[in-house]
This record gives sequence, C-alpha cells and structure tokens, in this order.
Amino acid sequence: MTAPDTSRISPTAHYTAYVWHRHGMSVPELATPKGRALFYALSPANRLLSLAGKADLESMLLARHRVIDHLLGEAIGSGEVQQVVEIAAGLSPRGLRIRRRFPNISYVEADLPGMIKSKRVRIGAKLDERHSLVAVNALAESGPDSLQHLATLLDPTKGTAVITEGLMPYFDGVDGARIWHNIDGFLRSFPRGLYLSDYYLEEDSMRVMGARQLSGLVSWFVGGATHFPLRDDQSLVSALQEVGFADVAIHIAGDYARELSIERPQRTGYVRVIEARTTPT
Ligand SMILES: C[S@@+](CC[C@H](N)C(=O)[O-])C[C@H]1O[C@@H](n2cnc3c(N)ncnc32)[C@H](O)[C@@H]1O
Repeated sequence: MTAPDTSRISPTAHYTAYVWHRHGMSVPELATPKGRALFYALSPANRLLSLAGKADLESMLLARHRVIDHLLGEAIGSGEVQQVVEIAAGLSPRGLRIRRRFPNISYVEADLPGMIKSKRVRIGAKLDERHSLVAVNALAESGPDSLQHLATLLDPTKGTAVITEGLMPYFDGVDGARIWHNIDGFLRSFPRGLYLSDYYLEEDSMRVMGARQLSGLVSWFVGGATHFPLRDDQSLVSALQEVGFADVAIHIAGDYARELSIERPQRTGYVRVIEARTTPT
C-alpha cells in the first residue's frame, strides 16, 4: 500500500526552525525567509495567548525541544545509543548540534523527499559520512521510503534512537499507531532501541488554558486537523505497549523547569515527552 502524502504539514518545519534560530540553537542556513514570515504572521496570536497567561506556541516548542535534547544526551552519554534517526527532522538543527557534542555518533535525518531536498541545499556542505539526510515516510510499511528499508542501510550492532518531534499531533489514532508500529519494528533491528517524542493528551487539550486555542492555531496553519486521540498518561503508555514497546516512561516538560531553564513551566508543563524502549531497562 502506498503511504499517503502528508507534505501539507511541511511548512510548520520552517516555523519551528525560525524559533530554534531565534533562541540561538541553530545555524543561519536553517532559518528561512518563509519561517521568519510565518513566525511574524502568527506572533500577534501568540502574544495574545502569552499576555492572557495561557500556553503559547513558542514556549511550548522550546520546552519539548529541550527535554528531548536532554534525554537523548543522557542516552548517548551513558553509551546506550550510538546511532540516531530523527524522523520528520524538518529544518531542525538537532543533528548538527548532537554531532558537534558527540562526534562519534551516527545521525540520520529523515523526512519527506521535498523537505530532504530543501535541507540538503541548506546544510549539505556541513554533512559527513556520519551525518546523512534520507527520504522516509513514517507511514510507509515497506518500499524504498520506509523505515524497514532504512534499517537495512544502518549498522545493526549499534544501540539506536528514533526521535519524532512535532509529528504526532498531525495524525489520528490509527495513523499514529501505524507510525509507532513502524518505529518499534525498525528499532528491533538493533540491540538497544530507544524512542523519544513529544506528545499532547486529550485531557490537557480540554484543561490547560490556551492548549485548545494553540491547536486551533496550528490546525489553521496546516489546513487540516490536529489530533489528540489519547486521553491520559495511562492510555499513552498502553498504546505504546500495544505496538510492542517493552519499557515506557512519560515525562512532563514542566518537571524539568529548573534543570533545563524551561520558560513559563506552569503553561508548558503539559507537554509530554515519551521515552520508550524495545527492551526492558
Ligand atoms: C512540525 S514539523 C517538525 C520539524 C522538526 N521536527 C522540528 O521540530 O523543528 C513536521 C515535519 O514532519 C514532516 N512530515 C510530515 N509528514 C511526514 C511523514 N509522513 N513522514 C515523515 N515526515 C513527515 C514534515 O515534512 C515536517 O518537516
């Protein structure tokens, strides 16, 4: 079965890339004019949410990015992970940052073909044999753009991490489970498999001030719905276990407020970060 084309989501990568750049986390090549224009187009709505004391997009993005960086750094530092595949990497600078911090790590950035082409134009000159860009559709179960195929190209002896950031809210429960199933299957090709991702729960979208307005803003932006198919932490753990993950921990971004200098933790604390492993720890 051919995986659906979900490239309507791709402009969001320009927006997030501009946020990473604004906060000194990126390189100028990844901050695009489109990202800048989108950032300033959305800034009045974002500022209104912030002034009203509600969850705002920029604080939420920074919180999730910092917690994922932190958990990945710990897993690499402990020796668990030597190879990273970032799916839906967009124009994120994480690959460049992680390679600078851990030069021996292999880092694969995966995204839809158009985004990969665009990123190659921007940072191709900064890549080397340990840092590559590949076209992958997270929904593809087989074929050249699938994770299954990518697994055959990587070192099967290395502990491997998969990251998705800013991807899951664009998929309903069925497609979300399909993506997780593909990731779990992919990670089982390696001795250790770690999955890190941000996630947003349905109960928070109703409860947290501003969360519903934020998802409305993002839905308008991508011209399609955002989804919160799982109600609470327990449903999230169960859904990940159902696709095969053996060990699942759910982190709350607000809990890292002091350690990671997360701004406005009372407003961004609802962002969940999944840390799931294919083997028990
Ligand atoms: C919100 S952006 C996030 C980019 C980056 N992770 C970040 O946080 O800056 C979503 C990304 O998902 C990618 N994407 C959309 N559908 C995809 C799919 N089926 N498989 C892989 N990537 C996909 C888009 O091209 C885009 O780069």
